[in-house]
Amino acid sequence: MHEFQNKWLNLRESIDRNSRNQKILYLINNFYKNNSHIKIIDLGSGTGSNYRFLKSRLSNNQYWSFVDISYQSTSFFKKNIKYSSKIKKTNFKIVDAINNLNKIKFDKYNLVTGSAFLDILPKKWFKEFHRLNADTEIVYFALNYDGNFKFLPKHNDDKKIVNIFNKDQKSDKGIGELAVGPNCTSIIKKVFKTTHKTFVLDSTWDVSKNYEFQTYFLKFCKDIINKNKLNLDQWLEFRLRSIKEKNSRFILKNNDFLAIKK
Ligand SMILES: C[S@@+](CC[C@H](N)C(=O)[O-])C[C@H]1O[C@@H](n2cnc3c(N)ncnc32)[C@H](O)[C@@H]1O
Repeated sequence: MHEFQNKWLNLRESIDRNSRNQKILYLINNFYKNNSHIKIIDLGSGTGSNYRFLKSRLSNNQYWSFVDISYQSTSFFKKNIKYSSKIKKTNFKIVDAINNLNKIKFDKYNLVTGSAFLDILPKKWFKEFHRLNADTEIVYFALNYDGNFKFLPKHNDDKKIVNIFNKDQKSDKGIGELAVGPNCTSIIKKVFKTTHKTFVLDSTWDVSKNYEFQTYFLKFCKDIINKNKLNLDQWLEFRLRSIKEKNSRFILKNNDFLAIKK
């Protein structure tokens, strides 16, 4: 895996871990308190960060299936996976979970989950996903970007950056269709509230002290600025200087979505 990508994933994983909403774990563990084991499917599992977060925090014994379209991420995950006594079985599937969603037998699973996955999906996916999961006991998608981030100290061009970033989030993320981007949580809540009790809980990244993370995020902003052929050099210089002087703060709003069958 590319070194930049690997470093970013590692940095993000520790931030994600500290940001995820803890109440959701209580709700899931409480729901399954009488189950000896649960079967879980992780969509867009990537290199396995959702598994690493959940495996020790879920009380039950676990059977996991991992689904991703990327052979490279899946191989990396498979090679590096760590087990514990609670993990009874794992299996890895290379599946296009957007175009071949109906190939997945969701009725085999108690818990359908994913992290940092919903925002890249096209709108039509959500209705189909709900149709296939109308009877699923629990659906849990963590770390859904909600359209807001803030660097401090303030700069006049801040709003412009958030706007082009959000526009980029709604562009085609390599799947041939526009992504829902920051609208993902409101869309999934809308489809699931007919059959499930739904929760949208805060999982904001507060990386005010993490200057390395901020530098990486700034690099993404720079790429988007360049893609849009905008001249926001002053903003970039201002942000880099604040990071260097260690007086930069950064907050990005995410939320976690949980649906429990009514
Ligand atoms: C932002 S990453 C999130 C990975 C991981 N869940 C995490 O939290 O780090 C999105 C993942 O979705 C996968 N993905 C993208 N399109 C997909 C598709 N059509 N079917 C299955 N997985 C897909 C990517 O390969 C990538 O691993």
